[in-house]
Amino acid sequence: MRHWKSSALALAAAVSAIPNYAALDECPGYVASDVTTSDTGLTARLSLAGDACNVYGDDLQDLILEVTYETANRLHVKIQDEGNEVYQVAESVFPRPSDTIPSEESNLRFDYTEDPFSFTVSRADTDEVLFDTSGTALVFESQYVRLRTNLPLDPNLYGLGEHSDPFRLRTNNYLRTLWNQDSYGIPTDANLYGAQPVYIEHRATGSHGVFLLNSNGMDVIINRTSSGDQFLEYNTLGGVLDFWFMAGPSPVEVTQQYSEVAGLPVFPPYWGLGFHQCRYGYRDTFDTAEAIYNYSRADIPVETFWNDIDYMDRRRVFTNDPDRFPMEQMRQVVDYLHEHDQHYIVMVDPAVAYTDYPPANRGMESDIFLKRSNGSEWLGVVWAGVSVFPDWFSGGITEYWNNEFALFFNAEDGVDIDGLWIDMNEPSNFPCFFPCDDPWSAAVGYPPTPRPIRTPPRQLPGWPCEFQPPGTDCDASAKRSESEKRTPTISVEEQRAAVLPKRQDSGEWKGLEDRDLLYPEYAIRNRAAYRTEWNAAQGGLSNKTVNTNIGNADGTFQYDTHNMYGTMMSRASYDALLARRPGLRPLIISRSSFPSSQKYSGHWLGDNLSNWDHYRKSIRTMLAFTSIYQNAMTGSDTCGFGGDTTEQLCARWAALGAFNPFYRNHNSYNSRSQEFYRWESVAQSARNAIRIRYRLLDYLYTAMYKASTDGTPPLYPMMYLYTDDRATWSLDLQFFYGPGLLVAPVTQQDSTTVDVYLPNDVFYDWYTHQPICGTGATRRYTGQNTTMIPLLIRSGVIMPLREQSAYTTTELRTRDFELLIPLRADGTARGELYLDDGESFDTAFSLITFDYSNGELVIEGEFGYEIDPRITTITVLRSSCASSDVDGNSERRISVDISLNEASTTRFD
Ligand code: NOJ
Repeated sequence: MRHWKSSALALAAAVSAIPNYAALDECPGYVASDVTTSDTGLTARLSLAGDACNVYGDDLQDLILEVTYETANRLHVKIQDEGNEVYQVAESVFPRPSDTIPSEESNLRFDYTEDPFSFTVSRADTDEVLFDTSGTALVFESQYVRLRTNLPLDPNLYGLGEHSDPFRLRTNNYLRTLWNQDSYGIPTDANLYGAQPVYIEHRATGSHGVFLLNSNGMDVIINRTSSGDQFLEYNTLGGVLDFWFMAGPSPVEVTQQYSEVAGLPVFPPYWGLGFHQCRYGYRDTFDTAEAIYNYSRADIPVETFWNDIDYMDRRRVFTNDPDRFPMEQMRQVVDYLHEHDQHYIVMVDPAVAYTDYPPANRGMESDIFLKRSNGSEWLGVVWAGVSVFPDWFSGGITEYWNNEFALFFNAEDGVDIDGLWIDMNEPSNFPCFFPCDDPWSAAVGYPPTPRPIRTPPRQLPGWPCEFQPPGTDCDASAKRSESEKRTPTISVEEQRAAVLPKRQDSGEWKGLEDRDLLYPEYAIRNRAAYRTEWNAAQGGLSNKTVNTNIGNADGTFQYDTHNMYGTMMSRASYDALLARRPGLRPLIISRSSFPSSQKYSGHWLGDNLSNWDHYRKSIRTMLAFTSIYQNAMTGSDTCGFGGDTTEQLCARWAALGAFNPFYRNHNSYNSRSQEFYRWESVAQSARNAIRIRYRLLDYLYTAMYKASTDGTPPLYPMMYLYTDDRATWSLDLQFFYGPGLLVAPVTQQDSTTVDVYLPNDVFYDWYTHQPICGTGATRRYTGQNTTMIPLLIRSGVIMPLREQSAYTTTELRTRDFELLIPLRADGTARGELYLDDGESFDTAFSLITFDYSNGELVIEGEFGYEIDPRITTITVLRSSCASSDVDGNSERRISVDISLNEASTTRFD
């Protein structure tokens, strides 16, 4: 009999969806003493103020408070155990800033009350309180930490992802769980693939941000007390309270200040901003080649082609299917792409098949997989069947990962990829009765039986003979022997007996002893765990992932580090790509994220569905990643991943996707094919949108450069640019692509109309250049068929455009420029352009500014990058919306010949 049945009842009792407030009300809180103040902050001891309440673990007796004024706009507040044992995110994973300033130079002020201890963070100039913990006692237990802040009623809060909920968070009875989870269908009100414990609060007086560096599972509750007081409350399963407060006061400044702590987003190569085509289910190299061919025949630019796990031999990482993706043919596909200035990306999952094959054997020898306490590898189940999982903390991991990349992705005889896709890195582990001690029975059906081998189905002009129909000897079919299961290093019985962890090491920040690392008494609302009793019985925290009682090589446990697994894989993969192609900026797209993952990888929004709701949702989640979490290179699966798309939806999404920084069409093996060329309306929509995207590619590239240097977001939610306009605070269906292009897609099925909110400002229609006077009202766009997307130019932002689009970004880079100068009502505009070779680190670059006023264009800046293309057209847009000193609406196109290699001033009379 399965033991889960008998344990289900006991577990159901332990699972609490919200904290037990009645019990927590009895907690004594802490008293501050030994306060030592310095120029740059203070420290104090916090001692338990009465009898321990021990609601979800043992109350810690003594804590240390440390407050540091780091910069004028950043304050660090940390509360940790005096013994320095409670788990903390390792410096090696998340290096902390070391800045300090004299407290009187700060725009923020920290105040505290000694007994019971509470603190506030306020704006120094106005005394406005931004964070105030006086409402409830601080609870700091061995497996539960609770801190609550009072907030103004119905606050404007954004962030706390990853979620697919509205951009402005609900404020009543709302619970956000942060626990990385494989989340097919990206449900709302659920924890998804990443954990982003940072929020921005916007008030009429300005915006500020709060970042809690804590990788433990947590519930953040936003609600009102019974007496109607608004609060936001952290409930974590451990770790310490390591807060940064960012003063803003604009939302853009908040996210920039956050980037100083969590890191700046990676700067993708120029080609990475081109259009990407992918799917799960390109069954062989012929399918792949055919899709590449069909795109070019349909004249839809495709910059990068991707293969999913289909290319692997029985889903084993670092292998290729010798029948369906023989190495010579894969290499021919890659060569073909490279010869045509296109690129190639494949997927790598973290889990390594637990079988007798070289990458697994080398991993065993290097001792880099996660282990049970008795030293045997911990076994889970992913696509390849029974699998082991890299321990990113192990000493040999860099060498191992670099070596596997160097071997399999070797340009000489391997798969010469240009970028990388990493998936299943929450990490995902397929359903397995918990504790997952019999993976062999759970692995039935994995890897799936491959589909029959095919011969090339049709002629592909321009492709090598291997890709042509029979007659050629192309169906290489070296038969493989069914490889045997790897014999476990210990028996299943021994594994079952070994579920209790043993410390492999001990020391600072590694975590307290004697915790229940599988079923903590406070149960966060882990999605699959709380839905049903059966799911709860599958493992609570460990549901669909590596058991949380598994230790890492540095002495920490998955219980504490789970949320960083994907980030650590991103970092290792970044290093491995860099080792393969030193000097070139790696492009990695990862599913799982945590603060700092943006330093190594971009993100796609995971397994959305092909429906209108998910089309709309894709905007808000993308906005949160790009404008709050600092993950500039984000986008969703265009046309949807799961289920069958429709022609209408895919046409709309092809256009919307073109305004995601990361633009990729991807779907599931069991969904209908959705390459853009499958329907004429979709093809037309894609051609139109890609043409616009490519003409604007240097504008996007400049935005991505800025994001990677000072954290300026590449996309702006409406409220980021019109912070005083209350009507913008909740908008999440229209947004700015860079600072100057308002994207307002049709968002309803069977509609050709969209209502666009236009703040009080001057805009110009992208297509007609007609001025549009924003008045703080919505404006209806009608007659938008599925190949169209409304776009408005924001006055004042000069946009460098390539004169013409191209099939590849290489070709695009040879095009001349047009400068689009949409004047504000006062007749001025300003813009920027960043240029470099598109892919190298530390390379010559130009950072050019354009300033237009009084009929004069001034070009200045740094001119380190020699470029042939010149500015050949200037288009000045002028409106009479709000001013009398301009003489009516007008558009003026002027042919010019201006170099981008030097400063200049041009006068237009
Ligand atoms: C899950 C990913 O989210 C999806 O994009 C991918 O196609 C499948 N894994 C197969 O690798």
